[in-house]
Amino acid sequence: MKICVIGTGYVGLVSGVCFSELGNEVVCVDKITSKVQLLNKGEIPIYEPGLKHLLAKNKERGNLRFTTDLPDAVRSSDIIIIAVGTPSQPSGQANLSYIEQAAKEIGQSLNGFKIIVTKSTVPVGTNEKIQAIIEANSRYVFEVASVPEFLREGTAVQDTLQPDRIIIGTTGEKAKKMLVELHSPLTDKIMVTDIRSAEMIKYASNAFLATKISFINEIANICEKVGADVTQVASGMGYDKRIGSSFLKAGIGYGGSCFPKDTQALIQIAGQMDYNFKLLKSVVEVNRDQRFNIIHKLEAVMNLSGKTIAVWGLAFKPETDDIRESPAIEIIQDLLNKNARVKVYDPIAAENFKQTFSLDVEYSNSAIECAQDADALCILTEWKEFQDISPKTIHSCLRYPVLIDGRNLYSEVEISETDLIYYSVGRPNMNKGQREQKPLLSF
Ligand code: UGA
Repeated sequence: MKICVIGTGYVGLVSGVCFSELGNEVVCVDKITSKVQLLNKGEIPIYEPGLKHLLAKNKERGNLRFTTDLPDAVRSSDIIIIAVGTPSQPSGQANLSYIEQAAKEIGQSLNGFKIIVTKSTVPVGTNEKIQAIIEANSRYVFEVASVPEFLREGTAVQDTLQPDRIIIGTTGEKAKKMLVELHSPLTDKIMVTDIRSAEMIKYASNAFLATKISFINEIANICEKVGADVTQVASGMGYDKRIGSSFLKAGIGYGGSCFPKDTQALIQIAGQMDYNFKLLKSVVEVNRDQRFNIIHKLEAVMNLSGKTIAVWGLAFKPETDDIRESPAIEIIQDLLNKNARVKVYDPIAAENFKQTFSLDVEYSNSAIECAQDADALCILTEWKEFQDISPKTIHSCLRYPVLIDGRNLYSEVEISETDLIYYSVGRPNMNKGQREQKPLLSF
C-alpha cells in the first residue's frame, strides 16, 4: 500500500519505518528541513534500538523516503497517517494546533479518495474535528480512522512489529477493510470499534498503567514502614492473572512524554464533562511525590549542603535518550537548591540533558568517574551498564559509602557483602546493624 506519515517524532518515524519493512511504499513528512535531510542520509534524530538498521534497509530497497513536501506526499498515497505531537498546554489540556494544521494541509492536498488515520494521542472527539477541517478544505471523498499507537520507547520497533493488539476506530467501510489488511501481517488481535472508543482506549490504557505504577509505589512506601519487600509483594500479586506482573516495579515514579501528558489530558477531558477523576488525580500526585523520596533518604543520612552527590541515570527509563519529564530533572534541581555539588552520568541521554537544561552540574564520562570521591551515589535509571557494576566497586569509589538505589538494582546478598549504607525502594533495611551502630546524622 502507499502510505504517507505526517510527523517524524517517535510514533511517526517508527510507524513509517515499520510499515515500509512490511513491504509498503512509505513517505514520511516533516516540516523541519534539517531533520528530513538527516533521515534521508540514513541517520536518526533519536536513540531507538534497531530503528536505524531498518530505516537504512528500507531506504535502500526504495520503500521509504522522507520529504518536507506534504502536498506531494499526500497526493501520492492511499493512506495518510497523522502522527504529529500533541504537547500539554499549561492547563494539562492537549495542544491540538499541529493536528489542526496537518488536517488543513491534508484537505488542501487531496486529489482523490484517501483514508486519513490519526495515530497521535488525541482527546475524544478530535477525529470528528479533523474530519470537519478536511471537509472544509476539500471536495474529495475520504474516510477517517483513529488507530492509536501503543509502542514504548526503547522497544518501539519490536512493539510495532509484534503488537499486543491493534485498535481501529472507524465507521468507514473502506477504511476498515484497508486498515485491517494493512495491520494483518502484525497480529490477528485486531479490534474494530467506533472512533470515540478508540480515542478513549489510548488514554484509558496509559492512565491504567500509570495507576499501576503509582499503586505499587505507594505499596513500596508502606513496605518500608512495615518491613516488607515490595519486589516480593509485586511477584506474589503478579501470579494472579487478573493482576499480572508487569508495571509493578516500584521506583522513583513514571516520566516520559506519554504518561505525564496523557494522565493530565484525561483529567482535563473528564473535567470538561464535569467529571472529577479523583483516582487519576491521586495517581499524578503520588507520582510527583515519589521522586523526592530519593532526597528524603539522602537527608536521613547527611546534610546535603556542600556535599558531592553522584547521579547515575538522566533518561526517564533505560534504552532511550529521552529526558522529557524524567524524575531526574526535579531530583537534581532539588539537590542543587540544597547546595549540593552534583555530578551526573548517563550512557546515552547526557547530551540531551546538557542541551535542554542549563543546570550547574558536572558531566562525567563514565559511571565510575561520576561516583569517584562522591559523598553519595543516587541511581535514577536502571541502565544495564549500572547493574554490571558491583556494589563492592561502588563502595571503593565513594568517599562516603551511601548508595540510594531508586530502581532496586541490587540484591540483599550483593549489598550484605559491602559496608554500604544502602537505601532502595520498598525493601527492608539490608545493612541495618551497621547503620544502627554508626548513625550518620552528625555527618
Ligand atoms: C508508554 C506506554 O507504555 C506505551 O504503551 C504507550 O504507547 C506510550 O507510553 C505512549 O503513549 O506513547 P513509554 O512512555 O515509552 O510508553 O514508557 P514505559 O515503558 O511505559 O515507561 C513509562 C515510565 O514508567 C518510565 O519512567 C518507567 O521507568 C516507569 N515505570 C514503568 C515504572 O516506574 N515501573 C514499571 O513497572 C513500569
